[in-house]
Amino acid sequence: MEIAVQQIQGQMGYTLAPHAVLTVGDHRVMISRLSRGWVLLSPGDYQSLVDFFDEHTSAKLDTESRQIAERLYRLGLALCDGKLAEHLTPSMPAFPESLLIKMTGHCNYNCDYCYDHSESRRKQDVDVARIVTTIDPILDQTGKLNITFHGGEPLLRFSAISRIVDHCAERHADKAIRFAIQTNGALLDDTTVEFLDRHDFSVGISLDGSTPDTNHHRGPKALDHFCRLLEQYPAFMEKRCGALSVISQANVRALPDFALWLQDHGIRGLSTTVLDPTGRAKDLNQSIGPQEITGLYDAWLQLVRAERITDLKIQNLLAYMDNLACFDPPNFCQKGPCGAGGEFLVLDADGSFRACDCIIHDAFILGDHKCTLEQALDAPSRRRVVDRHAWLVSHGPCADCPWIHLCGGTCAAKALGCATDENAVYPVECALNKHLYPILLEAYASEPEGALYQYYRRHSKARQRQNPVV
Ligand SMILES: C[S@@+](CC[C@H](N)C(=O)[O-])C[C@H]1O[C@@H](n2cnc3c(N)ncnc32)[C@H](O)[C@@H]1O
Ligand code: SF4
Ligand code: SF4
Ligand code: SF4
Repeated sequence: MEIAVQQIQGQMGYTLAPHAVLTVGDHRVMISRLSRGWVLLSPGDYQSLVDFFDEHTSAKLDTESRQIAERLYRLGLALCDGKLAEHLTPSMPAFPESLLIKMTGHCNYNCDYCYDHSESRRKQDVDVARIVTTIDPILDQTGKLNITFHGGEPLLRFSAISRIVDHCAERHADKAIRFAIQTNGALLDDTTVEFLDRHDFSVGISLDGSTPDTNHHRGPKALDHFCRLLEQYPAFMEKRCGALSVISQANVRALPDFALWLQDHGIRGLSTTVLDPTGRAKDLNQSIGPQEITGLYDAWLQLVRAERITDLKIQNLLAYMDNLACFDPPNFCQKGPCGAGGEFLVLDADGSFRACDCIIHDAFILGDHKCTLEQALDAPSRRRVVDRHAWLVSHGPCADCPWIHLCGGTCAAKALGCATDENAVYPVECALNKHLYPILLEAYASEPEGALYQYYRRHSKARQRQNPVV
């Protein structure tokens, strides 16, 4: 792969922005070094573009040439009077768009890899009053919020969840609230299923595979409960539920088949996260490496391209594609900088605020249980991932890498879970980024109407602007 960084001075107000040039199949892709913008070109067109910016002056620009220059400017591939288009500079939202509430540190399972499992955390239950005084000011200001009930096991506090949902219905009837819950599924019964259905919940159920072996870390009851739910509540499972799997040595080779199994059972979505060696998993030695993760995504891509996976949304793969296609992708993780502390806020079981709960680490604390929402949103540590991203743009391995504005330098929490330096990158995700983005771009260049992009168009929730192709 050929990479060149160039700043080419034109004489017409517009100049080419610093960018990288990569070869994907028969095409060139120009990737901005200042924004998320990219464009596919034939090699000849790329050279004409460079010559064009070299030779033309404002006076000589015809309408078509000016339109091309303006499109490149909107993508961050051209500057106007030395400046980047304003809409391309990300700004931190004043209030979060997604709130994750760790209802309790307690759990009725005892998974041996649990990152959130300690005797002190087990005793914590966040008060309903604390939750309400967090939700109300956000909704009063913004009128919209995604609320996820999490834990520990959130359904252990079902009555508290139902009081919060009732409160939202009474106090915020006119607001756009979306509810979600992440559960081990053991406490789903007629009452909880009816409630979650009535209030339009999205439900994530943790399951690591379709066999007892692949669920080794969660224990045999995980699969038993899931199969019971498929039998008892097939419509609810199909309409509302997705599976969340932790990728470890126990299941990494079985996850392509697991995707097919879920699809066969009418489940609509599969999300995955790589096992973090923290909490109870610290000494497990079950994490996976770069080759295993790229092999897994290759297998999923093959299944999608062969149209064997059609109805099941492989959420992480779709998030990669959204990330390539949108300036403001809906998933706040796979972009740079990520949402931790910006779009995303965590209210912990002990009443403290965190920027993210992906691992339980002090680096993400925004304020303790006495801290107000206002104080948490003012905490200097709220800017941590933004500052980390800015640092990575100009230092270390990311400084010379074309993907930095798309990948954000990998998940800060996972980087911290594997290393002590928060400015390090997470090697597994870094390897996946370098593997996957060229494949996705090449597929777009060679078969934009092929099975992969048909699948993407069918399932992507992204409603934001797409990257136009010049
Ligand atoms: C902590 S649990 C809380 C919600 C609920 N108890 C459940 O299991 O779905 C949330 C998710 O984190 C995942 N998880 C637990 N330990 C992990 C680890 N060490 N690395 C990555 N994910 C982990 C779980 O499998 C689960 O899908
Ligand atoms: S992963 Fe979820 S179900 Fe398992 S012990 Fe942790 S909190 Fe409980
Ligand atoms: S720290 Fe990681 S898990 Fe948390 S929001 Fe950022 S990318 Fe997502
Ligand atoms: S994390 Fe890896 S893929 Fe992303 S910018 Fe850094 S070096 Fe490139």
